Amino acid sequence: MVKEYKIAVIAGDGIGPEVIDEGINVLNEMAKMDGEIAFDFTYFPWGCEYYAETGKMMDDDGMEKLKGFDAVYLGAVGFPGVPDHISLWDLLLKIRKGFDQYINIRPITLLNGAPCPLEGVKREEIDMLFIRENSEGEYAGAGDWLFKGKPEEVVLQTGVFSRKGTERVIRYAFEEARKMNKSLTSISKGNALNYSMVFWDQIFDEVSKEYPDVQTYSYLVDAASMLMIKDPKRFEVVVTSNLFGDILTDLGAAIAGGLGLAAGANINPERDYPSMFEPIHGSAPDIAGEGIANPLASIWSASQMFDYFHRPDLGARVLKAIEDVLTEKEYVTPDLGGNASTSEVGARVIHYLKKEP
Ligand code: NAI
Ligand code: MG
Repeated sequence: MVKEYKIAVIAGDGIGPEVIDEGINVLNEMAKMDGEIAFDFTYFPWGCEYYAETGKMMDDDGMEKLKGFDAVYLGAVGFPGVPDHISLWDLLLKIRKGFDQYINIRPITLLNGAPCPLEGVKREEIDMLFIRENSEGEYAGAGDWLFKGKPEEVVLQTGVFSRKGTERVIRYAFEEARKMNKSLTSISKGNALNYSMVFWDQIFDEVSKEYPDVQTYSYLVDAASMLMIKDPKRFEVVVTSNLFGDILTDLGAAIAGGLGLAAGANINPERDYPSMFEPIHGSAPDIAGEGIANPLASIWSASQMFDYFHRPDLGARVLKAIEDVLTEKEYVTPDLGGNASTSEVGARVIHYLKKEP
């Protein structure tokens, strides 16, 4: 019996469509080889070009249209000409929030063959799983803009940390750490953010009592940024707020091969709504259209989709094929020091997938 998954594809802007094509080829190829699952892709033309034509990043009933899918596969949104806060809020954040994708899973793992700018660090020492709060916090969109343009102008951007929202992400992270038999590190900033982060730390302490078997650590975000560079092996499973997670995972990407290798999954754990899978990089307008974008991040996010569909065996095979391509070094894009094209890299991943047992 073949299980068919319906995937909504929002390739988006810039290099989004270029890298998504390669991810879809990999998903299809893997499904064909496996024989037990299949994908049905539906494309939505939303993004900045759509905005230029219609004044909207997505259709008014866009969320309704996406609701029935098993997952959303997203490239990148954002392009010069459309303010970034519009492209982000009217599409990406709308989906993350509207579908209550409150968990953002971002692996920071230095694969074999991936470049690392840190000296004296062993490959296996960079192996972290970031669990970022993805629905509220600093990105709650709460605030005001008063007296616009006047001398007394004031803006307020309020962090929103609910007990429910904070507990559920921390508990999710504890569950992951327990399952993986790893430590859990919380990253916050209770010394300066005297309401939100003191609260975060308190909830972390409370929930930790339910998991006496999980070793915990807690760092301030500034110290954590330094330690991720100086002593990355301290970090295994990490839980942090929306903003800190956004920043620290770009830092993590930089020590684990670059943005071209960083993937993220936006998960609604209850599966009431579709989850969304995406490379964490943006639309890279500086290289868009040249066919040289690195598709490995988007292929890695395709592998996260297999994990989510209860097929971690297939996810692991895709990751292994990415690693084979990196190790071989013949077919990598310019960001990794090679001169292969986006489609050559995609084809090479499939070449290795086919070679595997
Ligand atoms: P960016 O991630 O698009 O690019 C940063 C740098 O990394 C650029 O030099 C780019 O060429 C390079 N890069 C990124 N992905 C790459 C890949 N796969 N292969 C090779 N090189 C790659 O970030 P930037 O420039 O800050 O933002 C550009 C646009 O993307 C903006 O409109 C921004 O709002 C949007 N953006 C969208 C995101 C999303 O859709 N999830 C996330 C981040 C930014
Ligand atoms: Mg980011």
